[in-house]
Amino acid sequence: MPTAAQLLGLIKSHAQGDEERFHALTLQLAASEERRGHGKLAEDLRRLADAALEQRRTATESAGKAIPLARPRGDLAGLMSAGYPKTRLNHLVLPAATERQLGRIVEEQRQRWKLREHGLSPRQKILLVGPPGSGKTMTAAALSGELGLPLFSILLHGLITKFMGETAAKLRLVFDAIAQTRGVYLFDEFDAIGGHRGADNDVGEARRILNSFLQFLEEDESESLIVATTNHPELLDRALFRRFHLIVEYELPTRPLIIETMKTRLLTFDIGHVDWDQVADAAEGLSHADLIRAAEDAAREAILERGPSLDTTSLVTAVRQRSNVIGERNAGPKQPPSPPSSHSRRRRAVSD
Ligand SMILES: Nc1ncnc2c1ncn2[C@@H]1O[C@H](COP(=O)(O)OP(=O)(O)OP(=O)(O)O)[C@@H](O)[C@H]1O
Ligand SMILES: [Mg+2]
Repeated sequence: MPTAAQLLGLIKSHAQGDEERFHALTLQLAASEERRGHGKLAEDLRRLADAALEQRRTATESAGKAIPLARPRGDLAGLMSAGYPKTRLNHLVLPAATERQLGRIVEEQRQRWKLREHGLSPRQKILLVGPPGSGKTMTAAALSGELGLPLFSILLHGLITKFMGETAAKLRLVFDAIAQTRGVYLFDEFDAIGGHRGADNDVGEARRILNSFLQFLEEDESESLIVATTNHPELLDRALFRRFHLIVEYELPTRPLIIETMKTRLLTFDIGHVDWDQVADAAEGLSHADLIRAAEDAAREAILERGPSLDTTSLVTAVRQRSNVIGERNAGPKQPPSPPSSHSRRRRAVSD
């Protein structure tokens, strides 16, 4: 039996969270039990003591390594949301040239000290332009995932108010945060801020907001990455384009990329008998997001009907249905008048 002093010592060290002392006292107890001929009990005590200490060390180490979660507080809370996406660049299906451009941005960030030693800075203001569902928002998440940086999404509806002074003050808060906390800052569907607003009396106001944004963008010399996206390049101001270090253009997927996108989504399914040429014929003109949804439609049906095996017909049908949905939505009366651009023709129709 342990002595009263041993018991008290054990309880006290545990209550104080003094793991090392708790461990030492348990070992002392094990030794005294062994002397009393309680070999099995002594062995159990040592094993338990070592396991507890090891568990404690692992927990402390992983807590130390974890990236501190930066959460926007106070006024910033209504202006941006924060996340730590696990998305990586290789989750995106993109033309090789686009992959290279994005890979280079990541490398410049990773090796920014090296660039700085030679008087250079990494490019960190990036504009992503292209049709809905082509991976622009996902790219911002992937850049954040690759660099292990938080992704801060600017909530444009919280930013833009009727009052110019207020909007400028909010923009200032956002750019202060950009300078203070290194992260990927996403101005998604950026045309809301950069576009020429519809009503005549709104244009002057929109322009002033845009100008103050441009000024902040220009002055920014932070360590953060600023990513803006739009599927309305024709609405954006020329002056704005000049402010970005890099403009990455996204396109609807070509035939090989159509097939790759669908195959990637169906990795865990049996697709050995699919005639991909037929599927690609039916799928031309669909975005990556549409293709993934069509693949999921077909997969869901397969699972419920016969198991994880997909054939050409089920994929072609799913792809056609997706095309029809988009066609119908575009023909519907609610479609806003949009500029004659191939990008904007299907704007929002597929990604909502
Ligand atoms: N290039 C791609 N590779 C792989 N998956 C993609 C790609 N593009 C889109 N997707 C899929 O479609 C979803 C929606 O894509 P995302 O939101 O990035 O499109 P977007 O270009 O931002 O569209 P929008 O202009 O409508 O905002 C993604 O979460 C992903 O599942
Ligand atoms: Mg998007």
